[in-house]
Amino acid sequence: MNDTFLKACKGEEVSHTPVWIMRQAGRYLPEYRAIRGKADFLTMCKTPELAAEVTIQPVDRLNVDAAIMFSDILIPCEAMGQNLSFEENRGPMLDPVRDKETVDKLFVPDPEDTMGFVMDTIRLLRKELAGRVPLIGFAGAPFTTATYMIEGGTSKNFLNTKMMIYQNPALYKSFMDKVTATITEYLKAQIAAGAQAVQIFDTWGGIFCPADFRKHALSYVQKIIKDLKEWMKGRGESVPVIYFVGSTAGLIEEIKTSGADVYGIDWKIDLDAAIKRLGGDVVVQGNLDPLSLFLPKEKTEERVKDVLNRGSSARGHIFNLGHGVVPQTPPENVIALVEMVHRLSAR
Ligand code: CP3
Repeated sequence: MNDTFLKACKGEEVSHTPVWIMRQAGRYLPEYRAIRGKADFLTMCKTPELAAEVTIQPVDRLNVDAAIMFSDILIPCEAMGQNLSFEENRGPMLDPVRDKETVDKLFVPDPEDTMGFVMDTIRLLRKELAGRVPLIGFAGAPFTTATYMIEGGTSKNFLNTKMMIYQNPALYKSFMDKVTATITEYLKAQIAAGAQAVQIFDTWGGIFCPADFRKHALSYVQKIIKDLKEWMKGRGESVPVIYFVGSTAGLIEEIKTSGADVYGIDWKIDLDAAIKRLGGDVVVQGNLDPLSLFLPKEKTEERVKDVLNRGSSARGHIFNLGHGVVPQTPPENVIALVEMVHRLSAR
């Protein structure tokens, strides 16, 4: 049983710095593309046997210290009653939520009834992994999820989202209350099904000035984490919560108040500087630039050393990229990265 990841989340001593890679289950792996060639993305998410298989692929191939269940942050949008599809090369498409009528039609779903396939995937994975590495569950943060729901997909400047926030704050709040309740129940269901850590992805949190981030994004995350912690306490459980925000550098003092056990840091700030601003006695995850995997191997190794050195000033460090691995990355470079982290951090 490899428990370095869970130990590091708790700030306990470990024999090496654990490492996993955001988006480790995905298109850079030929074995993922082989399955994806036969099934569309949503079918893969909704078929526990397929989702479990692609979750384990990077564990086998990369020797990472944690598995992250294969799914997507937009699964709950469909469960709330919104149409969702993934178009080839266009990313996610949703029917935009922009007025009160549409918000009123959304509901807070029972996760087992509407997203049972995710919990089935987790239950299957716990059996198949059999303690080999811990399993991470996840959800999008309410704000990041809401941007897709409001924009109807990916966006450049989030105009419709900010228009709703600035011009109809009451509507935004009533919408966010539903999204927040959905995500809270969804994460509880994942933990009850066997997720051993959960990560909340706030990829787009960095599009705000800090005051807007606090009010329109962070406050909902704080509520989720507080609810989760109280619920876990009642069950005698303490599953670590990781909070990842894109464009972290401008928001370090904010994320410090999130209530998370582990702070995910992107690559646009030196890890030791982030740790210092977080107060030092913290657990961080990150933060190599994902495109460093295109450098010559010895240059990548220099950067890995640098991140490990800077990370050593925290109570705990989980090595990761500062954002997801991109599909064009050669798998052998990702394998080499994991090997470097293990070798260079061995105590
Ligand atoms: O990390 C993992 O390996 C677990 C699986 C996972 C996926 N998406 C699979 C996926 C996770 C954790 C996510 C999170 C996610 N999804 C985020 C937050 C993290 C981040 O990367 O910013 C966001 C914003 C999404 C929404 C999403 N899903 C978009 C914008 C897209 C299209 C763009 C893209 O990367 O293709 C997806 C599709 C998606 N999610 C794919 C995968 C493997 C590619 C689908 C395919 O195979 O065609």
